[in-house]
Amino acid sequence: MCGIVGIIGKKQVTSEILNSLKKLEYRGYDSAGIATLNNGEINEVKCEGRVDVLEKNLLKLDTSGNIGIGHVRWATHGAPSNVNAHPHSSNEVSVVHNGIIENSTLLKKDLIKKGYNFKSQTDTEVIVYLVSEYLKKYKIKDAVMKMLSNLQGSYALGMIFKDYPNLIIGARRGSPLAVGYGPGENYLGSDSYALKSMTNKISYLNDGEFCILNNDQVEFFDEQGSKINKKILTLSSDEKNYDKGDYKHFMAKEIDEQPNVINNCVNEYIDKINNDINIFNFPWNEKDIRNITLIGCGTAYHSCLVAKYWLEELTDFEISVDIASEFRYRKNKFKNETLYIFLSQSGETADTFAALDLCKKNNMKTCAIVNVIESSIAREANFVLPTHCGPEIGVASTKAFLGQMLVLYILTLKLSFLTKNIEQKLYKEKIKDLKNLHNKVKNTLLLENKINSVANVFSDAKGCMFLGRGTSFPIALEGALKLKELSYIHAEGYPAGEMKHGPLALIEDGMPVIVLAPRDNYYKKTISNMQEVIARGAKVLLITNKSEDDVFSENIWETIEVETANNDLLPFLLTIPLQKLAYFSALKKGYDIDKPRNLAKSVTVE
Ligand code: M6R
Repeated sequence: MCGIVGIIGKKQVTSEILNSLKKLEYRGYDSAGIATLNNGEINEVKCEGRVDVLEKNLLKLDTSGNIGIGHVRWATHGAPSNVNAHPHSSNEVSVVHNGIIENSTLLKKDLIKKGYNFKSQTDTEVIVYLVSEYLKKYKIKDAVMKMLSNLQGSYALGMIFKDYPNLIIGARRGSPLAVGYGPGENYLGSDSYALKSMTNKISYLNDGEFCILNNDQVEFFDEQGSKINKKILTLSSDEKNYDKGDYKHFMAKEIDEQPNVINNCVNEYIDKINNDINIFNFPWNEKDIRNITLIGCGTAYHSCLVAKYWLEELTDFEISVDIASEFRYRKNKFKNETLYIFLSQSGETADTFAALDLCKKNNMKTCAIVNVIESSIAREANFVLPTHCGPEIGVASTKAFLGQMLVLYILTLKLSFLTKNIEQKLYKEKIKDLKNLHNKVKNTLLLENKINSVANVFSDAKGCMFLGRGTSFPIALEGALKLKELSYIHAEGYPAGEMKHGPLALIEDGMPVIVLAPRDNYYKKTISNMQEVIARGAKVLLITNKSEDDVFSENIWETIEVETANNDLLPFLLTIPLQKLAYFSALKKGYDIDKPRNLAKSVTVE
């Protein structure tokens, strides 16, 4: 999704902006641009396509200057093109914007009447002319505040001004924005990752705030224009995670990192000496909680669905699961005894943030399970449980999904124990099993060659289905999502028992169907459902776990056996072949695995 960089210093800034834009490429984008200010003139260079193209264009044009802004755009208003790429500039001001200005059509009409000529189809251009208009009457700070007061929707903004060569202004509502501090220079970024190569000293803007950056100081203001103080945070260094190492793709690396991710997370949450779960400072008494609502989007939503089965099995809480973009606009019945848990890898997903914000405004108990601990969602929630996965760069979420499930499972066990729904002996056994999970994942990853060989069938398919029951149903949804987003093949995840209520009509000779049938309580039922699709011509890849018992079914095309574990842990193991399958299918098709078309890593618009 769109990314912002701004630098003000004493030396030339173009190449540093370009480097930071390269860091933001992982977010997914379709065009890029830079504007600098030099000798009282704004120089703007932009292009459709990748930052490499921008870099080539920059060689031909002059963009010197010690103050500048840069942007990678993920199209919302107006197709990806040179003219719609950011920055957008007038003679007076140049603007980069993340988010969506919802009243842009109305504002545009007004500005056209005032004589402004719009060049692009973007919503952002209204910001340029609005602020240019106010600059005719007001000084810079007031002009910006007037402009901001006209905007409805969401924005993170970076702006430079022809007549103010010593400052960059940033503003935030709904879309994240960070400020970085360096020696003799200061930075603006849509996330701390964009700034990491330059500084580890960061502050974050909250909604409604804006900031003025000079090369030697940064001032922050609230919506009314009063000065405010900001904490400066020091970021940890995890540079090695931003490198592909010997891997061809981040996704392949991130899949293979999963045994370590599990080990790290288990080490963070499990007290190995007492064989107990450490969740310190849980701010509520479990007796005050009767319901739990889990909320997320995409893959994070799937982890919520898996957790519903665990929580229902191991606790007495009423559990509901919601897609953030639906939750935020529904008429919700907020109850004091509900705990709302928000799942998000990035911690910046606009819909999830809005759902959290709504719960906060209704004084609900809110807990965030995030991978990025400096993120907006982490900062907003009452309580945070980090997944400790390290940065996930591939747009398709893999290790973060396992991390989300792991933290949800650990929380489930803890709540189960605290509410006396599990006996101490079983609780301790389950913790012991958790401590060995990383080895089971490691061994399951060894199935790579077999998965690679079956992937041909899937990469050639027009469409395919993923079936499962119990916790394997959300894993089927996740498997289908991974195949869709990477291989652009139509894939559906379905509860195996639902096929006869309609989707069986889709099955035709040779259609690939992946059946997840681990040896859990649903096993026999799922095998019967599998026979129904085989009888109608489906080419079935059965994924189960190792067992001494043979599978009693004929005409299965291929079988993959993951490691075996207690039933609760099977979702972790079943996920591995599905991730690899999506990876190899996309690899065979030659697609851009880390940056699939039309998608973004951090979805900061609704
Ligand atoms: O950062 P989040 O976990 O909040 O992101 C939610 C979804 O956008 C994300 O999981 C998306 O579905 C992934 N691309 C799936 O691989």
